[in-house]
Amino acid sequence: MPESSSIVILTGAGISAESGVATFRGAGGLWEGHRVEDVCTPEALAANPELVHRFYDMRRAFVQTVEPNAAHLALAQLDAAWAGSLLIVTQNVDDLHERAGARRLIHMHGAHLSALCGDCGARFHWRDPLPPGSICPSCAAPAMRPDVVFFGEVPYGMDKVDAALRDCDLFVSIGTSGAVYPAAGFVRLAGAMGADTLELNLEPSQGSSFFAESRFGPASELVPAWVEGMLSRHALA
Ligand code: OAD
Repeated sequence: MPESSSIVILTGAGISAESGVATFRGAGGLWEGHRVEDVCTPEALAANPELVHRFYDMRRAFVQTVEPNAAHLALAQLDAAWAGSLLIVTQNVDDLHERAGARRLIHMHGAHLSALCGDCGARFHWRDPLPPGSICPSCAAPAMRPDVVFFGEVPYGMDKVDAALRDCDLFVSIGTSGAVYPAAGFVRLAGAMGADTLELNLEPSQGSSFFAESRFGPASELVPAWVEGMLSRHALA
């Protein structure tokens, strides 16, 4: 694969698992004690803002206590070194990719360290608790909410992601179960447009059969090995 090739990398909760962030669908997952529909929908936010805000306050505080692992660091290294176009599309709302140094990154499901005004749409970097009714620093409406995409809302950056998927030479999926759309459909779009497709996951995902190649194991081992292979091929070329 020439170094001018275009790569799209999709990441999910599995890439952060070894940093100590629980995955969604594994044992002891994030939703333990909370039904998804209690904390992760616009209806839940309207019906029980105290619970939803408290839940995300807890998650926001927690992600600030964990560190990027070898898989995040390897992707950041590839991002810095790869001459062709590259886009990391993460479903994760932690900030471990950017703390590892990744730059070409889209948070399609939002970010814990961001707050969104439900009224004017302004966004702010946010590290502290966000009680319901917090005032928007831009429009002064008491409408600040977690900047996380809830079920039933449209993920962020989809135009750019769609264009990158149609144009890429290689699509790589890392640490995602393939259970949630639209991300679960990316492999089929990229494959149909002629891209090579590779899955790096602990176990076969729900969409495993759509990938040309799958490698199974922990992300902290598979991702650095894959990145090293990509970069060393070019050092030799
Ligand atoms: P899941 O929890 O559904 O899947 C995590 C995947 O990572 C599973 O396939 C695991 O086998 C794999 N995995 C676990 N540990 C791993 C490791 N150390 N190395 C490699 N792989 C590992 O998480 P996502 O697919 O990211 O959406 O979930 C997708 C979306 O569902 C989330 O973004 C979230 C949730 O509802 C929203 O919040 C909108």
